[in-house]
Amino acid sequence: MTGTDGVVLITGASSGIGRSTALYLAERGRRVVAASRARGRLAELESEASRRGLPVAGVELDVNGEAGLSEALEAIAAEHGHIEVLVNNAGYGLFGPVQTLASDELRAQMETNFFAAARLIRQVLPAMIGKGRGTIVNVSSVLGRIGTPFNGAYVSSKFALEGLSESLRHELRPLGVRVIVVEPGLFRTGFRDNQVTAAAIESEDGAPYRRYLKDYGSRHDRFSLRAKDPVRVAKVIHRAIRSRRPRFRYQVGMESRLGVLGSRLLPERVYLSLVGRAVRR
Ligand SMILES: NC(=O)c1ccc[n+]([C@@H]2O[C@H](COP(=O)([O-])OP(=O)(O)OC[C@H]3O[C@@H](n4cnc5c(N)ncnc54)[C@H](OP(=O)(O)O)[C@@H]3O)[C@@H](O)[C@H]2O)c1
Repeated sequence: MTGTDGVVLITGASSGIGRSTALYLAERGRRVVAASRARGRLAELESEASRRGLPVAGVELDVNGEAGLSEALEAIAAEHGHIEVLVNNAGYGLFGPVQTLASDELRAQMETNFFAAARLIRQVLPAMIGKGRGTIVNVSSVLGRIGTPFNGAYVSSKFALEGLSESLRHELRPLGVRVIVVEPGLFRTGFRDNQVTAAAIESEDGAPYRRYLKDYGSRHDRFSLRAKDPVRVAKVIHRAIRSRRPRFRYQVGMESRLGVLGSRLLPERVYLSLVGRAVRR
């Protein structure tokens, strides 16, 4: 286990996996700094934490912006203690066939799910390397390992995050900083409400996919009923960060384990037909 004198900084902590992880870690004695783009969105988490006497401090941090980021992180370290664990959790999905994705929509997707995480990592590393220890947890997805239809933007952003993490873990290993990638399957969070749909989906560019989009939508609605409590992801993050020798990748949930395993072990044609069922009746 790493020392526990520093804080755990979690981005996108106002809801879903971030919120669950903040409470779960704090319940187990970790001091948590819960970050959100808007302080107001943390009100509910902060009041629950204070009612239960849990060490969770809310901070406003816009992960999408570079301006003022290093000052914000310095202020966190000065007020709450050094950042020992960074959980890059903030993220959303951009939905739509690749043909309908506008460049600015794609850039925004990469900005939040990839560049923001890379930026935060760069900012926290000097202190972690200086201390010779620290942990970076990147919340990826099963879609960081396999591509599914109409999620090309999201999948690309998570593949990028996985690639960055792979290189980073080798670079940081001799310096005492661990890199962990968490790959959730399907969890009950605000993810679907926060999902952005490509503006051109209803345009001519979206026309060839319309029937498949409808089939995908109804299958996905049914699939969503199986979504699990995000505390499961929180438990895995807790286990990983307190482990003396954490694994590099943690799949959470059956969909994630089966998805990754299926893509690796099934014959190509069987795998294609299984994924194809998501878009064809
Ligand atoms: N739910 C799932 O089934 C699932 C599966 C695999 C992976 N994941 C990943 O898990 C992480 C957490 O997602 P969640 O499921 O807990 O969803 P969520 O409830 O929507 O929480 C995501 C958080 O990310 C932040 N966020 C959303 N859009 C953003 C944007 N455009 N710019 C900056 N921050 C933004 C928000 O935090 P603030 O508003 O507080 O800043 C939001 O609370 C994400 O990285 C997601 O890709 C989720």
